[in-house]
Amino acid sequence: MVAASGDVVERIQLAPDAGLVKSLGANHTLESAIADLVDNSIDAGAGRVSVRLLTRQDRLVQVEVLDDGKGMDVNVVNAAMTIGHQRDYSVDDLGHFGMGLKVASFGHADVLTVWSTKYGATPVGRRIRRADFSKDFTCEVLSAKVAEEHSADRSVILGSDVGTSIIWTEVRNAYRGDAADEARRWLATRNEALRAHLGVTFHRLLADRRLRIDVLVDELGEALAAPGVPVLPIDPFGYATSGHPDYPKVLVAKAGETRVKLRCHVWPARSDITGFRIGTKPGEQFQGFYIYRNDRLLQAGGWSDTANPSPARQLARVVLEDSQAIGSFLTMNPEKSGLKFEPIFHDALGRAAAADGTTFIEYLQDAESIHIDANKRKRRRRPVIRPDKGFTPAVRKRIGNELQFIDGDSIDLKWRRMPAGEFFDVELPTKTLWLNSRYRPLFAPSGGSLNDAPVLKALMFLLTHEVFEGRHLGAKDKDQIALWKSILGAAVVAEERMRGE
Ligand SMILES: Nc1ncnc2c1ncn2[C@@H]1O[C@H](COP(=O)(O)OP(=O)(O)O)[C@@H](O)[C@H]1O
Ligand SMILES: [Mg+2]
Repeated sequence: MVAASGDVVERIQLAPDAGLVKSLGANHTLESAIADLVDNSIDAGAGRVSVRLLTRQDRLVQVEVLDDGKGMDVNVVNAAMTIGHQRDYSVDDLGHFGMGLKVASFGHADVLTVWSTKYGATPVGRRIRRADFSKDFTCEVLSAKVAEEHSADRSVILGSDVGTSIIWTEVRNAYRGDAADEARRWLATRNEALRAHLGVTFHRLLADRRLRIDVLVDELGEALAAPGVPVLPIDPFGYATSGHPDYPKVLVAKAGETRVKLRCHVWPARSDITGFRIGTKPGEQFQGFYIYRNDRLLQAGGWSDTANPSPARQLARVVLEDSQAIGSFLTMNPEKSGLKFEPIFHDALGRAAAADGTTFIEYLQDAESIHIDANKRKRRRRPVIRPDKGFTPAVRKRIGNELQFIDGDSIDLKWRRMPAGEFFDVELPTKTLWLNSRYRPLFAPSGGSLNDAPVLKALMFLLTHEVFEGRHLGAKDKDQIALWKSILGAAVVAEERMRGE
């Protein structure tokens, strides 16, 4: 039964209990939590951020995020430590809920310390212990003198007098066991995951040099006064040529006044580059929507119930960037991961179309057909002998992506001295293709290495692999080899003469 207004006898105010603090941050990974701190640095106008994973005997004990942003004074820092304090945001801000700093921090640490210096203001320091904060929101005010010292340290690392340092101590969720190699592996994995996450999340800002992020992993107390190793941008749309000649295509989704552009991409089949792959995870896991807000990636893939993920759809990635869309079509959560698509967006997507009439379903089918055709081609092709020594890994891998290998057989490509005018030789019993080392400087000018001259070797493989696939050289094979030797012998002599001139 619904209560009527006459049933109200009194209004009482129920302020939140500080115990809510205990629930914060459970959904954050270490990477997403650190990215949230980087958001704050960006909002503060930082051009440089140094993320520091500090260890004691390879166990993560402290995380620091230092920036050269505009810093905070007393008033701002007090608001900053308050849960849900929403300042006046501008349209290009990444902040939103007034939660990020606290949620990210308490998801991973029991103590949060903030040191900050703003131009013309006394440096400030604040510390929150999660246990106290979750009783009565207690925050400790730290001495300005110590804040001044921290400001000086930060200035050595980032070269700026103003800025902010966020420091997590009593870090939870880190490897604490006895095995030293486990500890190092844990750290290496987190470092890789962090670099990949920051690299893709901020790829536009990093690529445009609007932002530089460095990551340092070092022992606490001995850490270098250096920012660390730069994070490289990972562009999830960084292919050279589209997988489908008609794409990318823009589909427009409309609902009432809201119009959202969906830029639909088809990756080339069997890509094996960073960008398709992200970090150590295969590209297949990154199909779906890429949602950008002020050039920050909020979601890297996932169909959010608008379509089903499948291996056949692995080439499909859709960019959605429209701050208009967030709020009406999409709901952001405090972790800024996995946006929720509103029912109105699902309806709009069903009706969305490109200028040429292409619908969302047709786009998915186009992406699937590129993937399926590429696989059919691979299966139709005859298996080949596996390239082994002498081929650079990228070439070996690509040949393996395009063709299947004959079991238990492989070919080596090596250099050895031969008479002038001879370019190569076939040695079937050892399955070796010899190249004349006399001409090696022409193809590997910087001295050469085991895997040198990749173009030449790939061409030689494509030309000769069939003769290595038989058990002996037939008359036809011998004639072919004689033909290649004759022509390539003349070619290499000409090549040498031209280069000499
Ligand atoms: N690195 C920083 N530099 C300057 N100000 C910061 C920084 N981090 C946090 N702040 C301040 O603290 C406030 C609260 O941050 P946060 O809890 O992440 O919420 P939001 O970013 O949604 O406002 C920010 O609005 C900003 O004023
Ligand atoms: Mg924030």
